[in-house]
Amino acid sequence: LKEYLSKNNIKNVLYYLATPPESYEVIIELIGNSELAHHVPGWTRIVIEQPYGQDLETAKNLEKLVHKVFDEKQIYRIDHYLGKETVQNILVLRFANGIFEPLWNRQYVDHVQITVAETVGVGTRAGYYENSGVIRDMFQNHLMQLLALTAMEAPVGFTADCVRDEKVKVLRALRPYDAKGVLENTFRAQYTSGYLNGERVIGYKDENGVARDSITETFLAARVFDNWRWSGVPFYLRSGKRLPKRMTEIAIQFKQIPLSLFNWHNMAGDAPNVLVMKLQPDEGVTLTFGAKMPGHVNQISPVEMNFDYEESFDIQIPEAYVRLIQDALYGDATLFTRSDEVISQWGYINRIIDGWDQDNRKNLPVYEAGTWGPPGVDFFIRGDNRHWRNPEN
Ligand code: BG6
Repeated sequence: LKEYLSKNNIKNVLYYLATPPESYEVIIELIGNSELAHHVPGWTRIVIEQPYGQDLETAKNLEKLVHKVFDEKQIYRIDHYLGKETVQNILVLRFANGIFEPLWNRQYVDHVQITVAETVGVGTRAGYYENSGVIRDMFQNHLMQLLALTAMEAPVGFTADCVRDEKVKVLRALRPYDAKGVLENTFRAQYTSGYLNGERVIGYKDENGVARDSITETFLAARVFDNWRWSGVPFYLRSGKRLPKRMTEIAIQFKQIPLSLFNWHNMAGDAPNVLVMKLQPDEGVTLTFGAKMPGHVNQISPVEMNFDYEESFDIQIPEAYVRLIQDALYGDATLFTRSDEVISQWGYINRIIDGWDQDNRKNLPVYEAGTWGPPGVDFFIRGDNRHWRNPEN
């Protein structure tokens, strides 16, 4: 390769590690041993695909090795959620507009719900998924990133390090649970057979390559708390496979009105205001509020203000990877995960995995494919007098 590069006068090199993760270490070592990590006269960069480690320890080991060969400025750790237009829009909505940010805190927000629901099952990836489950596959990376973008403070500027500084602060502020706290604030489950879009689908344990006694979770709901701005405001996170609808959204539920003035039939309730960032599909943002229904009978009804990407911009939303690979080529790391960020994500997630390990369960609660999880999924959110936002299927 070295010879090829100089013979063909190639100035810049971008390595892209999208191999099975077991080969990451050997590839990086070989690049280092062959002195191919600092190719001159141009730049050398490396894009590293997910998963970045299997737990905190393996992620730290990978970090050590990567840093032996490359400088942090050369490393681009992918989380493809950051390449999604709608995910980038979280910061634009918050920091390019004057009206949302003053309300974006514990004084006005009751709670936040982040949902990443998928209809697909584990498919042909059981070999990988069995050792990952939704906690490593979706929570450690995508949900932690969505949480960080929603909860973070305004960055000093829109540069890679300023944005990532603020995200890391959120991740570091997440309150770690002890083993008991893990069980009180997380709920995991596994899908069984059921119906999705009118078709019968098999259960997780019947999928090819899944152990018959597997306790790998395909669904996880968690309640997390973080910092000063959000003190007392729970963030409810959930993600699962074989749920009734593909839907990724962040819902900011605003507080109740202080006093009910209208002694009217009120279908909007006392807390009608929800701002929903619809990340996919049907990308957009909606704000719900109560409005007087026309007519001589006094009634209040919930209505929506709606922004729809397709309608407003009349373009197809580009693929996340197009943007990310382009950014790596341009040398813009804003949408990539920094070293301290990935370690903070694992630090938090590892406590949950440890708590589960200590619990030593032999089986998990199950939910029928095509449903929003088993009844137990409500236990902590109902205990808080709130409920999951489940759309009609
Ligand atoms: C990947 C996970 O990172 O994200 C998959 O490994 C998951 O299991 C996928 O299906 C979801 O991505 P998207 O872009 O379809 O929401």
